[in-house]
Amino acid sequence: MIKALRGTQDILPPESEQWRYVEEMIRKLCAQYGFQEIRTPHFEKTELFQRGIGETTDVVSKEMYTFTDRGDRSLTLRPENTAAAVRAYLEHKVYADQNVTKWYYIGSMFRYDRPQAGRYREFHQFGVEVLATPSPQADGEIIALAVQLFQTLGLHDLNVFVNSVGCPKCRPVYREKLIAYYEAHQDELCEDCKTRLYKNPLRLLDCKEEACQKLAQDAPEITDYLCEECADHFAATQKLLTAAGIPFTLNPRLVRGLDYYTKTAFEIQYAPLGAQSAICGGGRYDGLVEEIGGPHTPGIGFAVGLERLMLALSMQDLLPEVTAAGDVAIATHGEAASELGFAIAQELRAANFTVDTDLLGRSLKSRLKQVGKTGTKYVIIIGETELADGTVIIRDLAAREQTTLARSEVVGYLQNERERRG
Ligand code: HAM
Repeated sequence: MIKALRGTQDILPPESEQWRYVEEMIRKLCAQYGFQEIRTPHFEKTELFQRGIGETTDVVSKEMYTFTDRGDRSLTLRPENTAAAVRAYLEHKVYADQNVTKWYYIGSMFRYDRPQAGRYREFHQFGVEVLATPSPQADGEIIALAVQLFQTLGLHDLNVFVNSVGCPKCRPVYREKLIAYYEAHQDELCEDCKTRLYKNPLRLLDCKEEACQKLAQDAPEITDYLCEECADHFAATQKLLTAAGIPFTLNPRLVRGLDYYTKTAFEIQYAPLGAQSAICGGGRYDGLVEEIGGPHTPGIGFAVGLERLMLALSMQDLLPEVTAAGDVAIATHGEAASELGFAIAQELRAANFTVDTDLLGRSLKSRLKQVGKTGTKYVIIIGETELADGTVIIRDLAAREQTTLARSEVVGYLQNERERRG
């Protein structure tokens, strides 16, 4: 039997209905904050991610699904969507409107990572990107949006961690300090960190190995090395969060796995998810648009891992029970009645009712038994007598009442019932 690939998942009903519930919440909230949806391709030129995310990152060096297509081009399934959003922003010259751009997306991302709970090879992100404003208020607004999403869904016990990772002016100074600190402890580092030390020393702060974590405790902190502009920006962002009553924790050791970040970096974690506790990660990327070949354009965004969000919601029992129960089911006896039932179903669907017909040609008795289990509100019954009389029976399953009506009265009757019930 052919099975789904490791690290990929099918989302079947009723779970797919729960995903839809979460996605609808996301769309509603994005509209409230003035974000509009973008849809970009699932694959791009490999070069876009190499330049955008950074060659030394794990994502680019180890985790990309890169392939050569039949036209001999190197293509990559998107491992994240910020670089692609920026590519689209430039390609369509969106900057020309001289306004702030606020986009969101929901879709699949692909990373060749070791699969485990909360970590997949194809996963889904809800992300937002704000382009063309350096204002700390944008930082505040997107953190507020993420926090409000989780609150609206009812999630509790989340932690918002905030840091500043500086800019090309101040980070090199910090980088040197960090290298000097770790050089003195080189023997204690794990093999990965030994090789990362000169390529990407900030990542050492994020290593999950016990010995490296211990070393990180005493490592120099970036917030002591921020230039005036970065320090002011960071202070202003914190002030806004405090003013809006958004609880957060400063974490000077918070670094992100992608190279484009400048200034604000943040993560929202749900600790019970263990090693994959980051539900949301993001930050500012004031140099990315230039890196990809555009005019200087500051940007900021985040992405929420939807599988992790769904896991957290189910751990807190916050996913609604979704039933497929409709308004009306049709139960008939014989071919002529079945045709008539189909015509009535179509009339009702046109009038905005949810209707289920019997596609298995069951006997009236077994159809009624099956319908009784689904939670449907009404069943329309057309047996031999009704067919001969030009009538139908409408049975209210919850109230255990029924009435016989002329066929032409069915839609009007159910519309009245709908209004009466509100
Ligand atoms: P990221 O931290 O790489 O950032 O991913 C964001 C979120 O996606 C993570 O916090 C996690 O919830 C989820 N995630 C990442 N990898 C996996 C995986 N293998 N399986 C399941 N979930 C995963 C970005 O992708 C940036 N583009 C975010 C951003 C937008 N920054 C600025 N704008």
